[in-house]
Amino acid sequence: MRTVRLAANLLAADLGNIEQEVKRMEKAQVDAIHIDVMDGHFVPYFALGPEVVQVARRVTRLPIEVHLMIQQPDRYARAFIEAGADMLIVHLEAYHDPKRTIALVQEMGCRCSLAINPMTLVENAYPLLKNADQLLCMSVNPGFMGQPFIIEVLEKVRLARAFRDKQHLHFDISIDGGVTDETVGPCVTAGANQVVVGRQLFANKDAGEVSRLLRARANEVGAGG
Ligand code: DX5
Ligand code: ZN
Repeated sequence: MRTVRLAANLLAADLGNIEQEVKRMEKAQVDAIHIDVMDGHFVPYFALGPEVVQVARRVTRLPIEVHLMIQQPDRYARAFIEAGADMLIVHLEAYHDPKRTIALVQEMGCRCSLAINPMTLVENAYPLLKNADQLLCMSVNPGFMGQPFIIEVLEKVRLARAFRDKQHLHFDISIDGGVTDETVGPCVTAGANQVVVGRQLFANKDAGEVSRLLRARANEVGAGG
């Protein structure tokens, strides 16, 4: 049985020690490093840029996914790909033509995921899911750490999973925000095959123990797909 993929959200790390934090996650056997980028427009704050992606790339062979919570993802895609991203996550709600941006990113040899905010209807993403490599459902409002998981988002995950299976599509389904050992089970049951975890992984000295716990909780409900 395939287990759920775990992506460690570097925004929750000790940012003064990025190299060690990435290595710590590698040791904890996560499946990917997730890097949140904020531009002060799409969300009110600023966070992490291509330099952080470069540092992470230098120290790990894990896939690096870059979550662009920015207004013009098409404008900055190249910089993040050149810095070493394996996947860019772009928002449906940003100021761009998402279909064009997805094609642009993929033409540069990078995977591309489409993200939707908690209030965005998943049906609005359907026309793009033939092309996207992943759908990322935000389960908190983008821009702030420390928010509780919005349980209603799981209904959108169920719909997306049913749509994917009915249309014989192959995009992955990821959930970002407030994922813990308590919410990972329902995420997997709803149809996600990846979760992004920040605080719970980084706040614990023994991240390996947390990753094992998350996987165990996911397996209890039958991870996969
Ligand atoms: C959105 C946040 C989320 C999330 C991450 O702006 O960056 O990705 O809150 O942290 P956790 O996983 O700790 O909720
Ligand atoms: Zn994110």
